Amino acid sequence: MIRKFDYLVIGSGIAGLSFALKAAKTGQVGILAKRALTDTNTNLAQGGIAAVMGQDDLLEYHIQDTLASGGGLCRPETVQAVVEAGPRMIQELQGLGVPFSAQVDHPDQPELGREGGHSHRRIIHAKDMTGQTVQKVLAEKALAEPNIQVFDHYLALDLLQEKDADNILRVTGAWALSVNSGEVCAMSAKVTILATGGSGKVYLYTTNPDGASGDGLAMGWRAGADVANLEFVQFHPTCLFHPQLHNFLISEAVRGEGGRLINNEGVPIMRDHPQGDLACRDVVALAIDSEMKRSGADNVFLDITHKPADFIRDRFPKIYSTCLGLGLDITKHPIPVVPAAHYQCGGLLVNLDGQTTRPGLYAIGEVAATGLHGANRLASNSLLEALVMADRAATKAKEEVSAIDYPKLTEPYSPWPGGRLGQAPAEAVLITQSWDEIRRFMWNYVGIVRSDQRLLMAAKRLALVKSEIDDFFQNFEVDADLVEVRNIAVVADLIIRSATLRKESRGLHYSLTWPKQDDVHFKSDTVLSNSEPLLFPGLNA
Ligand code: SIN
Repeated sequence: MIRKFDYLVIGSGIAGLSFALKAAKTGQVGILAKRALTDTNTNLAQGGIAAVMGQDDLLEYHIQDTLASGGGLCRPETVQAVVEAGPRMIQELQGLGVPFSAQVDHPDQPELGREGGHSHRRIIHAKDMTGQTVQKVLAEKALAEPNIQVFDHYLALDLLQEKDADNILRVTGAWALSVNSGEVCAMSAKVTILATGGSGKVYLYTTNPDGASGDGLAMGWRAGADVANLEFVQFHPTCLFHPQLHNFLISEAVRGEGGRLINNEGVPIMRDHPQGDLACRDVVALAIDSEMKRSGADNVFLDITHKPADFIRDRFPKIYSTCLGLGLDITKHPIPVVPAAHYQCGGLLVNLDGQTTRPGLYAIGEVAATGLHGANRLASNSLLEALVMADRAATKAKEEVSAIDYPKLTEPYSPWPGGRLGQAPAEAVLITQSWDEIRRFMWNYVGIVRSDQRLLMAAKRLALVKSEIDDFFQNFEVDADLVEVRNIAVVADLIIRSATLRKESRGLHYSLTWPKQDDVHFKSDTVLSNSEPLLFPGLNA
């Protein structure tokens, strides 16, 4: 079956939904969500959205903080455009009805939080449930919008492409699998927007939801789009360490409100750093990693018990209640924490309008590399980036949609050439287990501390696993889980290849073999181009 739209949006977090709401003013929009509409990384974001709204703050300060965090690799024009648009984005969300936390004395002013690397208080938040609060409002608006059709539990498999009037291949939608019915359809569109989020599930420990398998990145790569800076994986310093709950974030805002990292003897870990516990994340994660290696402990602790219990319960209701549910009262006891993979700073290479290197294909949010984050993302800049890039991409895509009469996809069309979908045989369990294997060696060899030797070992192991997965796809029927496993393997490969090319240490990429920053040879993006893209024609011809 073929379904036709002006805009096809793949992903339903803050980037996808805010794009869709804007695009719906000028055309028909289809949204694909591979799980429930609100089962996204956005929904888990606790901290907030960085924007200059404080009396003593300036756009210039936010720009400087972003550039300093990015280790020399930010694109200054992107930083400026994103930071400048911040206050307008917050006002738009307020206009849609998002209830941000307000100042007690000035209820018309947002309460501003502080996070690592920020010189000023500028984190707009809704207690410690910012993402969930924004996601709920955007999802309600999208569901009520007549020009938007939502397809939840639809997994995008690969991108469709067809030739335009000038004989240039352009992306014209995607094949999508209904996870519930098993039906595969061609979602055909004038422009396609990847807003699929990140790929934290490539690592053993992550703060990301189960769906973060890098599908958009893998599909874009298979379709021939360039990728950039994938070696820069951000490890959040404070993921809860608890046997019953693996991916629960303890927001950096806890340190912003005075929380201190201590080791198991109670010694402050960041005492020697000028910015203390609010140093940039790469610095804090590395300090925790070296403290855990020194002491042999499984975790360190984040202590906020010196603050009044009422303050903690009111400012961090989600963290407080979740920990209490696990038997830990954070007003009385330090929180056991470990670093975990949190954010993919690189992604599909895009321009300032969100356009990838493939005609007709946009990427916004975590899946894209805009140049905002450089070698290390500044806290709470990602929800901001998603809003701004969705806004810019919607303006550009509208121009494209009104200027073209593609796609011309007609029935019958070629079936998805990526594999035979159906009932995966019992042996598929071995392939899904290889996901765990990938996650484990990515954690051990391509984690916070790397070396040439570790990267080589990871590359060798991945080559074996990848060829097993590819063989399986050629010989057996596959299901949605296997499609995700294959995407994870593609992402792991791109991260390893990017990290291997960067023979220095910078931002989030720390190598024992190359411990120094080398501005002479490496002050530039790591761009990978796919010389053998799989071009899946959308037309039957
Ligand atoms: C946090 O609340 O610590 C996460 C914020 C972010 O990742 O930007």
